[in-house]
Amino acid sequence: MDVVILENSDAVAAEGAQRICTLLGEKPDAVLGLATGRTPLAMYRQLAADCKRGRVTFADVTTFNLDEYVGLNADDPQSYRRYMNRELFEQINIDPSNTKLPMCEPGVNPVSVGPRYEAAIRAAGGIDLQVLGIGQNGHIGFNEPTSSLNSRTRVKTLTRETLERNSQYFDDADGQPLIAVTMGIATIMDATAVLLLATGQDKAAAIQQLVEGPVSAMWPATALQLHETVTVLIDDAAASRLEKRAYYDWVGQQRQRLQSQFDGE
Ligand code: PGA
Repeated sequence: MDVVILENSDAVAAEGAQRICTLLGEKPDAVLGLATGRTPLAMYRQLAADCKRGRVTFADVTTFNLDEYVGLNADDPQSYRRYMNRELFEQINIDPSNTKLPMCEPGVNPVSVGPRYEAAIRAAGGIDLQVLGIGQNGHIGFNEPTSSLNSRTRVKTLTRETLERNSQYFDDADGQPLIAVTMGIATIMDATAVLLLATGQDKAAAIQQLVEGPVSAMWPATALQLHETVTVLIDDAAASRLEKRAYYDWVGQQRQRLQSQFDGE
């Protein structure tokens, strides 16, 4: 795991956007896995600005989001489809038909969504870069603690803590879905590369487990320790419980030193 610790959340957003721009420069038709929540918002704003300035194009990009609530219409203000349209897709030059979420609108059998989503990811050639946030309880996507580390896209019942944290987005608590469809952990592990973002003190315990804890379904993100190419992009606050913090900073200095030797090549 590459643990990159930056001074604040703005720097995390800028670095995350830069990495996506670099990938799209090298592979304009890349397949991106995307996340919702508060954490990636600033990075999406930066990508929108980069796109408007012509620094990056999404014309040939395909995206797959991690998750979606069961039983919400696409135009429901609380749906992740609406979030993604509002925060990113309508701000960039992406073809809307290339933006996918595991939608499960009313009347759709939730059990049918997962296998179809997995097939669509495979048909697109797999995910080149998966963007992730992390829950305070260590979830990635909606893979809550005790999720199978070998899980695929499927229905997941949300924990009380996740429901409580997300309830602020729902005016009417009765309208908040209790279940969602989420990419599984094995689905996420299939991505060629993973970029996990976390900012703030409230993520420090989950980040400590992710990077330094034992691999365990109790902290689903720890499965990423078994992935070959993961970057953990965090601010000082989210890094505050890392025991080997000095080592990660040292690695960062060595990386910069090495890079500067090859700059201009
Ligand atoms: P957040 O959510 O970015 O809103 O903190 C992250 C997550 O729950 O995965």
